[in-house]
Amino acid sequence: MADTLTITDNRTGKQYEIPIEHGAIRAMDLRQIRTAADDFGLMTYDPAFQNTANCKSRITFIDGDKGVLLYRGYPIEQLAEHSTYLETAYLLLYGELPTAPQLQTWTKEIAQHTMLHENIKKLMEGFQYDAHPMSIFLSTVGALSTNYPDAKKIADEQARQVNIRRLIAKVPSIAAYAYRHSMGRPYIYPDNALSFPGNFLNMLFRMTEPVYQSNPVLERALDVLFILHADHEQNCSTAAMRGIGSSQADPYSSLAGAAAALYGPLHGGANEAVLRMLKEIGSISHVPDFITRVKRGEGRLMGFGHRVYKSYDPRARIIKQTADAVFEVTGRNPLLDIALELERIALEDDYFVSRKLYPNVDFYSGLIYQAMGFPVEMFPVLFAIPRTAGWLAQWDEMLRDADQKIARPRQVYIGSGPRDFVPVGQRK
Ligand code: ACO
Repeated sequence: MADTLTITDNRTGKQYEIPIEHGAIRAMDLRQIRTAADDFGLMTYDPAFQNTANCKSRITFIDGDKGVLLYRGYPIEQLAEHSTYLETAYLLLYGELPTAPQLQTWTKEIAQHTMLHENIKKLMEGFQYDAHPMSIFLSTVGALSTNYPDAKKIADEQARQVNIRRLIAKVPSIAAYAYRHSMGRPYIYPDNALSFPGNFLNMLFRMTEPVYQSNPVLERALDVLFILHADHEQNCSTAAMRGIGSSQADPYSSLAGAAAALYGPLHGGANEAVLRMLKEIGSISHVPDFITRVKRGEGRLMGFGHRVYKSYDPRARIIKQTADAVFEVTGRNPLLDIALELERIALEDDYFVSRKLYPNVDFYSGLIYQAMGFPVEMFPVLFAIPRTAGWLAQWDEMLRDADQKIARPRQVYIGSGPRDFVPVGQRK
């Protein structure tokens, strides 16, 4: 017998059998519950979508209680150990790990699209010298749609595939240009003989040397961070990507909106906020005082807590190990001791324990980025580069999903009833 939920409407005494599929009922099945012919029907009220599935997806699985994260079934720990970001991006988009020839073709195709049109470079020059690189990034991604009018053909498989490749390839170039702009340094063109993270480091940090050689430990650390950030199912920015994409906007415009959602301090801006918080705390001796203020509600412990994880974020554990490898090359980040002390106290304190608040992916990532020489303003941009693969995989999945329509939530109206307009002179 199929799973059903029986609902009895006390107002009418009527009973309704609502099918349960994959542990969910369809909200539209509630619409039949009404008291009169002109009754709109029962709705669900779910601010911030805390208990509403917006889609069926095959891309990423999270078990927040057990601290499990899988991309297409593969545990994040195994991907972080054995894969590369580009291979993981392919996996997210196409559902399977690529064969050796597929990976070779994919890598070549991405390399073909790393250059930015010179007019995009000129556009970026127009930004204020001290503009936040994330603002530059999201504006420029949106502007790219003007260069690729074929991106509007979202139903055309070939156009979709080429624009997916363009976006994955060009976001590091935009990010690097945004950084160089803020430093007043000349732009560095991509070097396609280098790996994906190696080329990104080249575009960021190359000075007068003819060929840029990155430190292999730092290059690998960046690639691991990219793998960890590549997707995270229906988070705020991915919901934005799907929401904008559902109106059939082109992927550049949709991705600009997703990047804007990522910019906020409660999402991708959190690692920037963590670093600012650690600096403000200043020394280990100030940690207990800071924790007391957080518990009084005078601010949050940034990098702690997650809507889905109610145990240790598995990405935070991998990042902590990566940090050790990076600090062996760069020297220990002095803020690490403050972070470790914050974590130690928070994991013992009832306020955090009872609310199941654990370190999330952003608690330690900023410390690594800072040790590698990135200014804090670049942190959300460093998040957006790999998340581009996840956003595009989710967007592509949505476009292929026959259940999907333009995203259009309902509301519970609690405002004024009908009333007559009052001329300005007669208003009190
Ligand atoms: N510090 C102190 N208290 C916190 C924190 C925190 N970081 N996070 C949650 N709480 C408390 C809340 O005050 C609330 O307490 P209450 O029940 O007494 O009111 C309780 O824990 C539940 O918090 P909510 O805000 O309801 O949890 P929600 O799921 O809405 O928020 C979020 C999740 C936004 C991540 C939150 O934990 C937070 O603001 N964390 C800090 C910012 C951060 O690190 N963001 C990065 C998230 S990961 C990512 O985007 C990649």
